[in-house]
Amino acid sequence: MANGDGTAVVNSWNEWDTLREVVVGSADGACYEPTEPGNRPQVRDRPDEPFPTGPKPPEVIAKANEELDRLAEVLESRGIVVRRPAPYDFSQPLRTPHFGVENQYCAVCPRDVMITVGNEIIEATMSRRARYFEYEPYRHLVYEYWESDPRISWTVAPKPTMASAMYREEFWTWPLEERHRRMHQSEFCVTQDEVVFDAADMNRFGRDIVVQESMTTNRAGIRWLKRHLEPRGFRVHPVHFPLDYFPSHIDCTFVPLRTGLILTNPDRPLREDEVALFTENDWKLVEAPEPVLSNSEMPTHCQSSKWLSMNVLSISPTTVICEEQEAPLHDLLTDMGFEVLTVPFRNVFEFGGSLHCATWDIRRDGTAEDLFP
Ligand code: ARG
Repeated sequence: MANGDGTAVVNSWNEWDTLREVVVGSADGACYEPTEPGNRPQVRDRPDEPFPTGPKPPEVIAKANEELDRLAEVLESRGIVVRRPAPYDFSQPLRTPHFGVENQYCAVCPRDVMITVGNEIIEATMSRRARYFEYEPYRHLVYEYWESDPRISWTVAPKPTMASAMYREEFWTWPLEERHRRMHQSEFCVTQDEVVFDAADMNRFGRDIVVQESMTTNRAGIRWLKRHLEPRGFRVHPVHFPLDYFPSHIDCTFVPLRTGLILTNPDRPLREDEVALFTENDWKLVEAPEPVLSNSEMPTHCQSSKWLSMNVLSISPTTVICEEQEAPLHDLLTDMGFEVLTVPFRNVFEFGGSLHCATWDIRRDGTAEDLFP
């Protein structure tokens, strides 16, 4: 495997080694996510009300930015270099040969679009129209890293058309029984004809990359990742959580905390035949406690589940940053020997995620370990 000596400017092989440089998202210019074939946002508990469009109110943006800035300060106080996205006008509509959309989304969740795999930066294809150009606020950083170290590689995954034929619109109207019946088929709102993946559907475990098949990553996307990464010395393992009927992004479902330990979601067990990879290599799967905030108490415009509670950011194999109100999780992690740092983050939730989503690690210690020998 090339350049695996741990000294490159871009170097991150897993989710937990000591963090040295990270990008923290920003709510500047954020808009409500538009309704489109790959996304049907709903006002919580008032599903018949139209979801707002256009820019989010300035006070909503200011509150999220306060929490994002606070996270940046905590990281800096630990000696970690923090970088931020460039300003971008998300209120611009998009028109491509294949689709139009009234506005774009935000730069709060770099995790969704950007991933560091060893010494390589990959920009995901993305799966939703409003997120088609979401790599742009990070390009100044990508250029800087790429110019500063010849060992860095930079890959832009093939852009899908996001034309109507790429989506399965009936998905949104399937009754629950239908979803249950189909739970092992892994057919969601994207079809299988084009390469589609969001970066946040991956977990990095050294030379092993785990990818969730979901509403935001299809089998062609996983095939592309395999054919791109396996000749470079990685192994790509597809995973499934059949009881999650609306899967998107793995970091509220399956969260590795250090070598040998994964935090799991008790409502979304890993498919039975996929557990062996972990248990046979002596990895322990520990269930996250019930979140403090219930689904009905999540912010009105938040499209994520209560399991944002487990969307933690590891800054070393012994230190984890958690949302400040999730006391049962703090206790569990403390009991398992972690130092737990906390920050308020609930005002970020309606921008698509929590602490892991809102960050993109550029450099951590470590090299390409084989953790599943
Ligand atoms: N779909 C997940 C849930 O609701 C939220 C995932 C957020 N992750 C992210 N990287 N944006 O549980």
